[in-house]
Amino acid sequence: MLKLSQQIIIRVEKLTQGSGGIGYYNSHTIFVLYTIPGDLVKIEITELKKKYARARLIQIIEPSKQRVPAPCSAFGKCGGCQWQMLNYQDQLEYKQGFLDGQVQFITKKITHLKKRPELLPIVPSPNEYRYRRRLRLKVKEQKIGYFSQASHSMIPIDDCLLGAKELIPALKSHLLLNQQVGLKTYEVDQDPKSFKIMVRDLDQEKPGFSQVNEGLNQLLIKSVAHWITQLNFQHPIKMIELFSGQGNLTFDLIAHLPSGSQITGVELNKDAYNSARERQVLLGIPESQLTLVHADANAFLKKGNNLDATLILVDPPRAGLSANIIQAILKNKHLKHCLYISCDLSTWTRDALMLLGSSDWELCKVQAFDMFPQTDHFEILSLFSRQI
Ligand SMILES: C[S@@+](CC[C@H](N)C(=O)[O-])C[C@H]1O[C@@H](n2cnc3c(N)ncnc32)[C@H](O)[C@@H]1O
Repeated sequence: MLKLSQQIIIRVEKLTQGSGGIGYYNSHTIFVLYTIPGDLVKIEITELKKKYARARLIQIIEPSKQRVPAPCSAFGKCGGCQWQMLNYQDQLEYKQGFLDGQVQFITKKITHLKKRPELLPIVPSPNEYRYRRRLRLKVKEQKIGYFSQASHSMIPIDDCLLGAKELIPALKSHLLLNQQVGLKTYEVDQDPKSFKIMVRDLDQEKPGFSQVNEGLNQLLIKSVAHWITQLNFQHPIKMIELFSGQGNLTFDLIAHLPSGSQITGVELNKDAYNSARERQVLLGIPESQLTLVHADANAFLKKGNNLDATLILVDPPRAGLSANIIQAILKNKHLKHCLYISCDLSTWTRDALMLLGSSDWELCKVQAFDMFPQTDHFEILSLFSRQI
């Protein structure tokens, strides 16, 4: 019988997204963060359920052949990266495998699919480190850090190897001029074009949304544009974009629709909406070509807006799409295609199953984009189409 706090030795056999490595002990599946397949590890049981347990890594007795030295001294403590001990090619293969597994799961559940979806190879990030242009950091008594994995104790850091080199020095300079007391959360954000750095005190200001990995973001935008071109629209169309943010995708996509097409972008965050509006005015794009709406996507669709759109693009936060949005997509018979960008494999799978529950929708194409190297997260681009 396995007991809480018991120390055991197991061989790690599989890797999960979110729960680290998996090994087995008697009838228990055991999840251990910071371990990878092949590791022989000494662990301590920290959570015990009937079928599974979680454990803390105590010692690596025999390292996996895939292990590489993690370059950051805070790795395993700060809670930011899960995978610095895996070389980058292996990280990509695991991510591709996770997506492949979910696509197989979907195709097994949804029996009416006519074709197996095309699963394209994962797109690597141009940079494995220093790819983030935005960091959210804790500051206490002028020290900078992150909260440790699953706790609120602060791990001080001198640098974060995921962030652009200039970010932490910029926060340090800000703190020299602005002494603060107690614990605070700051966001340090570098503009991808001007390279200007903004320091925001998140106790005073709301965080904004922008894609953190600009190099990969550009590859993602190109692919979305290419996938739209491949749809081969012969006439002007109406497109609706839910969760359009500052127009990161919107402005590049306009040129890839037949001339005379019309896009409606819907965004809830007022600052993001305002910033997209400013850009529209700056670029001189008329309302007849692009209508930006400051609204909740659910409420917007409920009102029956844009029921004559042919293409819908959705890029929701982690929580994915609400049942209302999915129902609106299914009910709207004009809609022929749905491009779905997701940063969460489990909510994407849930939503894909709901969309495909209606027998006239197919999952045509899906591809992973490695927006977040050294972590177990990634972005998914997918195309769903209505069968004619
Ligand atoms: C993953 S981001 C995508 C933003 C944009 N597409 C981009 O590439 O930068 C999700 C966006 O959805 C917005 N959002 C969240 N909930 C919303 C809602 N209920 N209705 C409309 N927009 C929402 C957020 O403010 C954020 O800008």
